[in-house]
Amino acid sequence: MKKLFIYYSNSGNGEVVARYLEKQGFDVRKVETKYKLSRHMFFAMMKGGFHALVGKKAKLINYNNDVSEYDVIYIGSPIWNSRLTPPINTVLKNTDLNNKKLTFVFYSGGGTSKKASKKVNRLYNNPTIINLKQPKKYSDELKKLGEENE
Ligand SMILES: Cc1cc2nc3c(=O)[nH]c(=O)nc-3n(C[C@H](O)[C@H](O)[C@H](O)COP(=O)(O)O)c2cc1C
Repeated sequence: MKKLFIYYSNSGNGEVVARYLEKQGFDVRKVETKYKLSRHMFFAMMKGGFHALVGKKAKLINYNNDVSEYDVIYIGSPIWNSRLTPPINTVLKNTDLNNKKLTFVFYSGGGTSKKASKKVNRLYNNPTIINLKQPKKYSDELKKLGEENE
């Protein structure tokens, strides 16, 4: 069974998840985008938080939306303002994920991912949702992924 992890990461937590899943046999597609946040936390929060709130879709660079050869797809997104990120909003819009075994991996600062979960539950039929708290800092969090794959 072919497995794919599609993810976005702004500050490296998504990378840690990608490396972990790669070791478990996943192919990995990182979403590249020109969309960037300021390095100043205040401005990053204002822009990212607002765009997450309004469900903005960021432009992607060379995104390959052909997932036909995969049965199992994991989608990774940071949590911004309890919601999905603009690049992942675009991925969901542009990728046919019907009839796939879908898991969402959300990495957050430890806060709630309620709004993101609500959205993916609305869009898809009973996806699995795994919440990780800063996996870059707390590597134990990655075990939550292992349990899903063993
Ligand atoms: C604009 C912005 C908004 C955020 N909002 C939340 C939030 O609502 N709840 C939370 O727990 N963490 C929040 N965070 C923290 C990130 O979700 C967390 O650092 C995540 O692991 C980042 O993933 P990355 O390193 O792959 O980009 C926010 C970070 C940014 C930049």
